[in-house]
Amino acid sequence: MIIDGKQIANALKQEIRERVQAMAVKPKVSAIILGEHPSSLSYLKMLEKTCKAVAFDYEIVSLPLETTLESLLKVIDEKNNETQIKGILVQLPLPAHIDASKVLDAIVPEKDLDGFHPLNAGHLFKGERGIRPCTPSAVMHILAKTGIDLKGKDVVVIGRSNIVGKPLSMMLLEQNATVTMCHSKTKALASHTKRADIVVVAVGVPNFLTKDMVTEASIVIDVGTNMLNGKLVGDADFEALKDYVNMITPVPGGVGPVTNAVLLNNALMNG
Ligand SMILES: NC(=O)c1ccc[n+]([C@@H]2O[C@H](COP(=O)([O-])OP(=O)(O)OC[C@H]3O[C@@H](n4cnc5c(N)ncnc54)[C@H](OP(=O)(O)O)[C@@H]3O)[C@@H](O)[C@H]2O)c1
Repeated sequence: MIIDGKQIANALKQEIRERVQAMAVKPKVSAIILGEHPSSLSYLKMLEKTCKAVAFDYEIVSLPLETTLESLLKVIDEKNNETQIKGILVQLPLPAHIDASKVLDAIVPEKDLDGFHPLNAGHLFKGERGIRPCTPSAVMHILAKTGIDLKGKDVVVIGRSNIVGKPLSMMLLEQNATVTMCHSKTKALASHTKRADIVVVAVGVPNFLTKDMVTEASIVIDVGTNMLNGKLVGDADFEALKDYVNMITPVPGGVGPVTNAVLLNNALMNG
């Protein structure tokens, strides 16, 4: 079975829209960008479309590339204090003269849509309420909507980045899965993936997860986004796996669309 991420995302967007329509003041997202990186601009355009779809207000604060850290922090401070704004995004990468962690840490944790603030990371680690990073939340949402009970399931996560693998492992543990984290130094990777009920692959290498690494019972969640011969592809060998494994998310149309919807859901975390 191919898991339809678009359908899951649309259902979540519908839920968000209904919540927003019942609110007295429309929530607003503020996206801050320095310079004109083409992929960042196209991401922000796509986010604008998603904001419209869920009835959010949206602004792009476009600053020159040479903006100083001090001026950028001043803008963030203004957005932190604007009550209609429920979420702030700073587009990465930032130019070399700006310390990105100082910028991300300056966003108040309640408006940290990406869930990267140390306080939100700490809440996740301690199992407390807080904003969770979007991509791992999207993986969890997909698993929930697919009706998979994670309790006691063996889940292998390939990739240990701060934005995907590590937070995802914490969220899976919260749901009582048995989690194995794999990375570039893992020995005999296929021996781990083959015995897993669920394999999440977040490596950034096209066709990384091959048929000989999974079984017919595997559920594969493909987080990867790679350009291969001008086409967007994931980390799994989708053509070889789609008629073999139990369930798989495609790329595009899997984790990506759900991630965008989850981002806006994060903006509603604090009312
Ligand atoms: N769909 C979405 O919303 C979304 C969001 C974020 C990222 N992504 C995509 O997800 C992928 C991963 O992103 P990321 O930011 O997590 O990447 P990253 O920071 O580059 O991390 C990649 C991880 O893969 C591991 N790895 C690399 N080669 C490996 C190998 N041969 N065997 C096992 N593990 C290996 C690395 O291990 P070490 O730690 O040992 O180096 C690292 O932990 C990318 O394609 C990215 O574009 C998608």
